Amino acid sequence: MDFNIAVLSGDGIGPEVTAEGVRALEAVGRAFGHRFTLQYGDVGGVSIDRFGVALTDDVRGLASDADAVLFGAVGGPKWDDPAAATRPEDGLLALRAHLGVFANIRPVKVYPELTASSVLKPHVLEGVDMVVVRELTGGLYYALPKGRSETPQGVVGVDTMRYSEAEIERVLRVGFELARGRRNKLTSVDKANVLETSRLWRTVATRLASEYPDVELEHVLVDACAMQLVLHPSSYDVIVAENTFGDILTDEAAILAASMGLLPSASLSGVPQAGMRTPGFYEPIHGTAPDIAGQGIANPCGSILSAAMMLRYSLGLTEEAAAMERAVQSVLAQGYRTADIAAGGDTATGTVQMGELIAQAVG
Ligand code: IPM
Ligand code: MN
Repeated sequence: MDFNIAVLSGDGIGPEVTAEGVRALEAVGRAFGHRFTLQYGDVGGVSIDRFGVALTDDVRGLASDADAVLFGAVGGPKWDDPAAATRPEDGLLALRAHLGVFANIRPVKVYPELTASSVLKPHVLEGVDMVVVRELTGGLYYALPKGRSETPQGVVGVDTMRYSEAEIERVLRVGFELARGRRNKLTSVDKANVLETSRLWRTVATRLASEYPDVELEHVLVDACAMQLVLHPSSYDVIVAENTFGDILTDEAAILAASMGLLPSASLSGVPQAGMRTPGFYEPIHGTAPDIAGQGIANPCGSILSAAMMLRYSLGLTEEAAAMERAVQSVLAQGYRTADIAAGGDTATGTVQMGELIAQAVG
């Protein structure tokens, strides 16, 4: 089959890791007889440098016309001036909103062969297998009013936490449906002891739970969840959280998997279903890692596993997705490690070599 993929690799290590995601896709294409037409576009800092904006109308169009988007990462010290009128991250946020991808699915899996690379004790990591559903197009990131202004009391900065019942319900539904296909447990994260949006969130979750009697719903305050995530991570199945809470908790959860460099994500505008063909936005959860950019040492697994999620949820290619995931697993099992997951004594494998090994394993 023929597929049209927009490739927006962005800044820092974005282009390096995305090139390996693409290599893995092409290996799947050869092995299974598919053709991926790749359309490249600039986004983030590179786009600011070339066009003065973090996302051009052309790239916006490219993303909405594609069957799916493979995204890298955006940002970096060069564009970090707090007074700047535009930032690389604006491009990413604009894309997420434009595509309406309100549900960001972040699976956190622990490869048994990597427990030695984690800072956590092996018994804590045993049985860890969770999915975090992060609300992606609302809350503090988007709601108005937002901005900075001069007041008689000095400069004031404002962000607004705002959620409608409909926004909460649709993302919780994704959580309930995912839990149904897994271990039937849903943890709804909030700060209902303080925030009005969280009390609404909890009310909606409790109401929806009556439609899902087979799913056990628990409510956890976000601060307690942050602690439980490293104390008893295996107790979680599916976690649903609003945008900012989900952003923070998934960086923490990445430590369970030994490195952020391993974690993929899929952003969708509905309930994910393996084998379906619906547009989606796929990105590793890590950032641009300016400290190691250009050195060829970044871990490409997050991008490759994001490409696998794309095969499964946007291109209808379940078998191909599983083949790509098995390829990652087998290369790790053979002992190859990028620097971020190399334990003492391991020789680190570079980005390109890791990508090539995985691509070979796909074929
Ligand atoms: C992420 C990133 C982004 C976010 C940044 C780069 C805007 O941290 O995808 O988790 O906060 O959503
Ligand atoms: Mn983040």
